[in-house]
Amino acid sequence: MDTFIIQGGVPLNGEVAISGAKNAVLPILAATLLTSEPCVIRRVPDLSDVHFMGKILQSLGADFTFEDGTVKVHAKRVKTRGDYDLIRKMRGSICILGPLLGRKGKATVSMPGGCVIGTRPIDLHLKGLRSLSAEVKVREGYVQVAAKRLQGNEVFLGGRVGPTVLGTANTMMAAVLAEGVTVIESAACEPEVVDLAHFLISMGAKIQGAGSPRIVVTGVEKLHGAEHEVIPDRIEAATYAIAAAATNGEVTLTNMRCDHLAAVLDKLKEAGVRFEARGSSLKILSGGEIQAVDVSTQPYTGFPTDVQAQLMALMLKASGLSIITERIFESRFMHANELARLGADIAIEGPSAIVRGGADLSGAEVMASDLRASAALVIAGLMCKGRTQVNRIYHLDRGYEVMDKKLRSLGARVKRSKEK
Ligand code: EPU
Repeated sequence: MDTFIIQGGVPLNGEVAISGAKNAVLPILAATLLTSEPCVIRRVPDLSDVHFMGKILQSLGADFTFEDGTVKVHAKRVKTRGDYDLIRKMRGSICILGPLLGRKGKATVSMPGGCVIGTRPIDLHLKGLRSLSAEVKVREGYVQVAAKRLQGNEVFLGGRVGPTVLGTANTMMAAVLAEGVTVIESAACEPEVVDLAHFLISMGAKIQGAGSPRIVVTGVEKLHGAEHEVIPDRIEAATYAIAAAATNGEVTLTNMRCDHLAAVLDKLKEAGVRFEARGSSLKILSGGEIQAVDVSTQPYTGFPTDVQAQLMALMLKASGLSIITERIFESRFMHANELARLGADIAIEGPSAIVRGGADLSGAEVMASDLRASAALVIAGLMCKGRTQVNRIYHLDRGYEVMDKKLRSLGARVKRSKEK
């Protein structure tokens, strides 16, 4: 297992290009199962989750190649039963359910378990598919869905804490080949859902309202092959912006979309971070005095849960007390204990973390627990005096393309090494 060795205290400086969005590309790759014609997806990040999705598509009978950021998928024929072990390992793979049901009228996929950030149920995915007249059973660890002919319907997909991103994606992907009109109320508004809708439309689907809480899908008989370029990864961009601010550096992010980051930029501004936002580029300026801010995670357009951990790392250097409340996942504070090893002063009170900024941080050995927690530990390591070793970096490789290389290009002293 690889580790990162970080010698902290060096301000990041320079320019970094943002990669394609992991959470957009995974459902888009699943959507290629909706047609027997070839699809070409560009600006695909080289991530272990993407390779994993490639393996899943291959296990279902599709041809999958990945070269220089371009994926070609040809699902001429597809099986309807996903490999238990493959699918179980990556939660995002649940989004093959909707496309298989849409194309073949049935699908059997292993039931995803909980994960380190929370229980992660799929009741809303199943509600969406049931509403299209699919019969749903859970048997021997598998979810089985089947329908003679999917029928459009109205469905409300708001859950306990609001909409569901992949649940919206699954319902939309099944509905594109259903008979009649489907209206998804309380749909997720995330840019990744919009990107998926754009890809489906380029395949011949009829979808209106993606990006709003009401998506209307008019079913069509058949979809065709298409080409698509994936949107920039807003979470990766937020991570580098925060890393720059945390090290008092000066970094320009390119190939990104500032409009997808409104809530994050608003919070950074409130925290005293100075920046220039210009459409597809964002320049973080040095010299801002970091102030404590309070934040609650929310569905888009609110502050993303996927940036909560990174903001917590930044708050370690703020003057004052900040309250960070996690409203999407119930146990997404695993990074707090690890940050404490570096000297952070954080108390967890129910869904909130109370961070007392200004503690004297020094490098230590810490353990990554999930993707975004790992990013927070790397940011904290860059802020610390001395050497920080972040173990279990495979979490980072799931969602950050060549992070060590990108950080080194900004002057960070980060080395990847094999864990002993
Ligand atoms: N929920 C339900 N029932 C469901 C589905 C979700 O109650 O059937 C609840 C969840 O437990 C959670 C909330 O609804 O409390 C939101 O979950 P959502 O379904 O939106 O999450 P997801 O679609 O499974 C995607 C991203 C996550 C990101 C969340 C929230 C992908 C592959 N994953 O997950 O990304 O945190 O949306 O924005 O798109 C990450 O990249 O590190 C990551 C975890």
